[in-house]
Amino acid sequence: MKSAVKRIGVLTSGGDAPGMNAVIRAVVRTSYSMGIECVGIKRGYHGLVTGDMNPMTPQDVNGITGRGGTILYSARSKEFMTPEGLKRAADNCRFMGIEGLVTVGGDGTFRGALELSKTGVSVVGVPATIDNDIACTDYTIGYDTACNTAIDCIDRLRDTMQSHERCSVVEVMGRKAGHLALYVGIAAGATAILVPEKKIKFEEHVIKKIRDARLNGRKHFMIIVAEGAANASEVAQRINAETGMETRVTILGHIQRGGTPLVRDRVIASRMGYTAVHVLAEGKTDKVVCFDGRDYLDMDITEALKMKKGLDEDVWDIIDAITAGA
Ligand code: F6P
Repeated sequence: MKSAVKRIGVLTSGGDAPGMNAVIRAVVRTSYSMGIECVGIKRGYHGLVTGDMNPMTPQDVNGITGRGGTILYSARSKEFMTPEGLKRAADNCRFMGIEGLVTVGGDGTFRGALELSKTGVSVVGVPATIDNDIACTDYTIGYDTACNTAIDCIDRLRDTMQSHERCSVVEVMGRKAGHLALYVGIAAGATAILVPEKKIKFEEHVIKKIRDARLNGRKHFMIIVAEGAANASEVAQRINAETGMETRVTILGHIQRGGTPLVRDRVIASRMGYTAVHVLAEGKTDKVVCFDGRDYLDMDITEALKMKKGLDEDVWDIIDAITAGA
């Protein structure tokens, strides 16, 4: 197949996610295999504005699949969002002969890509965020690793909560979404999970569950709070005030974004990176690579950005049943 583009760029933008390096590797090596030159752009759109970019060869991406973070660095560039910044980025693309761009990140990254495409550069987004909040795809790169990192921390917390017969309130990331909290909560066997998508009655959803379980002999509790749902310290204070239990708050924070990417993230990242290069080579633009649970597809960015991702209702529905009374 003759490629529609001769030289492409790749950048990572927004919050980093485990697996981003595997996307970079796949993009660089797939391009090479198709006779397309590839340029690595540093610090997301900031590198496009400042011209901070280098050609990348297959050797440059040796041994990075298992590394967390992103070798290209990441940023949320304010300058790129100004008309002057956008113009400089477009000028740099033209000057460097970059005809297509693979942008790896979340919805903010895709909005940036859309702006750039209006200047004539073909763009394709690869969804990578630990929040798993991109509606057009079942899965965003980094989610599985972040869930597992959180679970590892929570398992350790459980040991000490058990020893001291305390209640642990753990805040997990997710920005305005509760996917991470829901999966972490169910996998950790939490007594209650608070997510922004669900309005709950605190007494019924948290206090009553703790009370019922205590009546059945349980002595320690794990409550998972999505950062967008409530303030973890306030949740802990309320539990203490209403149950008399000693509570401790742990905010997992950026720990969840680091670490060695798990197999799922490495494989999906490799497949999405490969797909993204093919999308550009076929002459398409304004696309996001999506995974529907089986296949890797591409969807129009504008359509993708309009979509809203709901919580996994099946999982939410079983929470009450499996946390009842114990
Ligand atoms: O989008 C990924 C994410 O980790 C969110 O879960 C979190 O709210 C945000 O990024 C934190 O961003 P920063 O690293 O800029 O503090």
